[in-house]
Order: sequence, then C-alpha cells, then structure tokens
Amino acid sequence: MAILRSTFIALSHNRPLRRFLEQSPIGARLSSRFIAGMKLEDALRVAAAVNAQGMAVSLDSLGESVTSEFEAHRAAEIYHQLLDAISTQKLNANISIKLTQMGLELSQALAERIAGDLAQHASKSGNFVRVDMEDSRLTQVTLDIVRRLHARAGLRNSIGIVIQAYLYRSEADIEQLLADGIRVRLCKGAYREPHTVAFANKSSVDKNFALLTGKLLESPVYHALATHDEKMIEAAKTFAAQHGIDRSRFEFQMLYGIRRDLQRRLIQEGYRVRVYVPFGTQWYPYFMRRLAERPANVLFMVKNFLR
Ligand code: FDA
Repeated sequence: MAILRSTFIALSHNRPLRRFLEQSPIGARLSSRFIAGMKLEDALRVAAAVNAQGMAVSLDSLGESVTSEFEAHRAAEIYHQLLDAISTQKLNANISIKLTQMGLELSQALAERIAGDLAQHASKSGNFVRVDMEDSRLTQVTLDIVRRLHARAGLRNSIGIVIQAYLYRSEADIEQLLADGIRVRLCKGAYREPHTVAFANKSSVDKNFALLTGKLLESPVYHALATHDEKMIEAAKTFAAQHGIDRSRFEFQMLYGIRRDLQRRLIQEGYRVRVYVPFGTQWYPYFMRRLAERPANVLFMVKNFLR
C-alpha cells in the first residue's frame, strides 16, 4: 500500500505522462470522477448543483508551480472572475488557492501581492480565500504570508489557511494561528514527506488529527475539518457534543466525487458540509494525489471506463 502511494505521488511529477493524459480524451474521461470539468462554467454549474443539495463549495482552479509571472497573473485572473461570478450568481462558495500557482517559487513578494489582491476582492464581496497547504518546503513561507495578509486592515475575515496533521510541527502552528484568530482547515496531508518532518504511519497521523480537531473546535473561530475518514468525523462529532459546541460553529469539508453518501448523511444530521470542487485543464497532479490516497480508485476507474 505504502509503495503504491509513493508510486502515484512520484507519478504526479512525471511530465511526459502529464502531457499525454491532460491532452487526451481518455484523460478527460478518467479525471471526470474528481474534476468538475475543464471550464469555469463547469465549476459554476457543479457549485450550483452542490449548493442545491444543501452544501457549500470551495472552488479550486487547478494548477500549481507556475514558471512565469504572466502565468501567475493569468491564474489569479480566473479566481477574480470566480469571485465575481459567485457574487452575481449568489452561490454559497468561496475559493481555494495555491501559492505556487500565484508564483511563490518565482518570488515570494509576487505570490503575496497576488494573494493579497484576491483577499481584498473577497473582502469587498463578503467572501473568503482559503490558502491550500503544499509540501513541507513551503509550510513556513505559506504561514508567514497568510499571517501577514490576515493582519492587514480589512482582511481579517477574508483569508484562512490549511494545516496538515501529518506534520510534527502542526500542533505548534495551530497554537499560533489560534492566538491570531486565523481560520484553519485541518486535513491529514497529501504530499510525500520525509520522516524527519512527518508521521509515517496512519495511526499517528489519525491520533494527531483527533488532537488538533479538539483544539480547533474549542476555539471561538470558525474552522473546517477536511476528511473522509468516518473515525475522524465521529471523533469530532463526539467532541463537539461533549463540549456543547453547536453544529453551526464548524464545518466538515470533503473533496468533489469522494464519499458523496457521507456528505449527504452529515447534511441530514444537521452538520455543515463544504465540498472542494476542482476544475481546469491542469488536473494531473491533483488527480494523481487522489489515486495515491486510495489506489483502489484505479480499479474503480478502469471498470467504469470499460463499461
Ligand atoms: P484517509 O486517507 O485516511 O481516508 C479515509 C477514507 O476516506 C478512506 O478509507 C476512503 O474511504 C476515503 N477516501 C480518502 N481518500 C479517498 C480518495 N482519494 N478516493 C476515494 N476515497 C477516499 N491536503 C494537503 O496536503 N493540502 C491541502 O490544502 C488539502 N486540502 C484539502 C481540502 C479538502 C476539502 C479535503 C477533503 C482534503 C484536502 N487535502 C489537502 C487532502 C488531505 O490531506 C488528504 O490527503 C485526503 O483528504 C485523504 O485523507 P482523509 O482524511 O480522507 O483520510
């Protein structure tokens, strides 16, 4: 299992396979299980459908690690269009961005400027920007940028971050973020990390996820628990019930196309659920990380494909 996971994560960096799959109709068909579509209109259509089921949305215009300032601005432009469309179509949706897509690996100042402009736009339209967390080389710089932007006048309620339970440092990071009043999305973590920085086995990651869940739920800030793991979800529900934390004070988040049954069940039980909806032509690395999480998806997709 661990080998398969590493293989898919390694494949997520494979350029020839990426070029082939992203440009082929086969690839488009395979990816449709996890991706709303190639165009902005596809994402808005899916967002409206998810909203109609009582769930909120976070929209992700796929892409990471841009190689020019032009590309970074083009990526940001799509998000500005999304923020406008969310307002005009009155969708219950916010946006999730990656700082490497905003040029972080070219210039930190560039990524901070672009993310700041997006947070400003979100603030004006009463919306919110979630900054996804990428691999551990970027944890500190991502935290620094989000903390600086959050401290800017007018942006306090418009920007939040993601923390990964697999990192040893996350407990300390959460303490700091809570002191600042920054909204956190807690997830387990999707990248391949060395043992020097991250827990290697699932049970340690799960234990840390449950611990961090308690810390977030106890804080007065509105946070998100992003997982499809029923054990983690049950632990969160129990913690909230035992501590008298109302269901409206936090939300569960899940990925588009994964555990739809569980998403619906939580809504029926009166919990808040937000679905992360990715779209766009650069779906390959995201798609490979989803296969890494559950290699059985490959069989599932091949079966569907042949059908
Ligand atoms: P776990 O991997 O233990 O899986 C538990 C169960 O969930 C599985 O047994 C299976 O039933 C189901 N499941 C999980 N993944 C599946 C898949 N791909 N296909 C089908 N079933 C699956 N990561 C990151 O590093 N940075 C980030 O910013 C984010 N952002 C983010 C947002 C949202 C809304 C979610 C839900 C997740 C992320 N992640 C992320 C990804 C996260 O770190 C993690 O890799 C996945 O959510 C899988 O972990 P689970 O918590 O679901 O548990």
